[in-house]
Parts: sequence; C-alpha cells; structure tokens
Amino acid sequence: MGIAREVFGGALPVAERYAAFLADAGVERGLIGPREVDRLWERHLINCAVVSEVIPADARVVDIGSGAGLPGIVLAIVRPDLRITLLEPLLRRTNFLNECVEMLDLPNVEVRRGRAEDVADEFSVDVVTARAVAPLERLVGWALPLLRPGGELLALKGERAAAELEEAADVLERFGARTTELLQVGQGMVDPPTTLVRVVAGRGGVVGRRQRAPRRAKRSRKRSS
Ligand SMILES: C[S@@+](CC[C@H](N)C(=O)[O-])C[C@H]1O[C@@H](n2cnc3c(N)ncnc32)[C@H](O)[C@@H]1O
Repeated sequence: MGIAREVFGGALPVAERYAAFLADAGVERGLIGPREVDRLWERHLINCAVVSEVIPADARVVDIGSGAGLPGIVLAIVRPDLRITLLEPLLRRTNFLNECVEMLDLPNVEVRRGRAEDVADEFSVDVVTARAVAPLERLVGWALPLLRPGGELLALKGERAAAELEEAADVLERFGARTTELLQVGQGMVDPPTTLVRVVAGRGGVVGRRQRAPRRAKRSRKRSS
C-alpha cells in the first residue's frame, strides 16, 4: 500500500472505497473477473492512476468505454482538477458508473451512455483516454473526432502497442493525426510500467479534408483557363 499512498495521496480513502466496490459489486455484476480481485491495485487502480502524469491541468477528458470506471473513475479520484465524461454504451455499466460517482462523491464526473462513434458532435475535449476498448486502428476513428485540434488520445496499450501504431498508419493520416508517440508512465510504481500510445489531433481529419477539397479544385480550374 506504500505505492498506493504515494500515487493517491490524500485521495487514498476514496480509492479504497472504489476498490472495495469493484471487488464486491463489480465482481457480483460481472464487470470485473473474480481473479482480478487480488491484483486490483497494481493491475487496475495504480496502472490507470499513473496516466495522470501526462494529463495537463484542468483538462476536459472523455474516457471511451469506461466499463467499471477504468481509467476514468481512477483519474477523477487522483485528479479533481479534471472534468471527466465516462462514455459507455451498456446500461448495466452506466448504472454501475453512476453508483460509483454518487458513492465516491465525484463532482468532476458525468456519465454519458452512448457509443463513441455516435457522439462526435457533442465533444471537443483536450484528452480522450481508452483502455482495452478496441484496436488502435478503430479507436483512432472514434477518438480523434472527439478532440479539439491539438488535443490528445491517450490509449493504454500492452505489448502490441508499437505494432498497433504501425497498423493504424492509414487511419491516422485519414483522421488528420499530427503526431504519434509511444510512452511509458508509472516507472518504479507499477511493473511493468503502463504503456501509452499518444496521438495528437490535427486540425482537419476526414471532415476537414472533405471541406477543403472543392476549394482546391476551383483554384486549379482558374489556373488552367
Ligand atoms: C473490455 S471493456 C474495458 C473496460 C475498461 N476500459 C477497462 O479497462 O476495464 C470494453 C468497454 O468498451 C465499451 N465499448 C465497446 N464499444 C464501444 C464504443 N463504440 N464506444 C464506447 N464504448 C464502447 C464496452 O461496452 C466495454 O465496457
């Protein structure tokens, strides 16, 4: 618990209440596997909390596919300055998330039931997080439309992070990604450290390209006449 105290600081009692709820109702309702209970802290809570190392102050965050609240609830506990939307399509899970928000008294969290690909018009946030939701190739198409230009997708990934990044090359270009980077957070706190794929959103993306295309065509017609 020494590391947990270091990571959560004064918010440790709230994190403990969340861990207890996951181990109890989370397992009972099938949101967390019973075998995860013994490794809840290292593999789930601390692994998610260390992502806060790379999230700027006061950021607006959407956590795609929160499930039982990972990483979204953990980030809200450890970083009260963040405003976090937990985006989750399944009612059983949004019910669980709403109970967590109420029980843990987290004023910086809202729960939104929906699929990422259906809510792009509603968001233009600083950071999108996602853990164990979809391969990067699919995730990029869901996450980048939710970001403001310069905003960041932080995808928690495992050993295949580099391979997923390569496989997503086309879709990253199509959605106007500005830069991509692999990074590790939580060195010395979790073993192995948490691997993140960071994608910085550009200005355009698919919609921007569609809008710019006719203007380019017009200029080239003028030049040729
Ligand atoms: C394997 S769970 C991971 C849950 C949590 N992020 C974690 O790490 O424990 C994947 C979650 O993504 C959600 N999901 C699947 N498709 C989605 C979509 N299109 N938009 C948002 N969430 C989605 C599922 O309902 C599920 O809760």
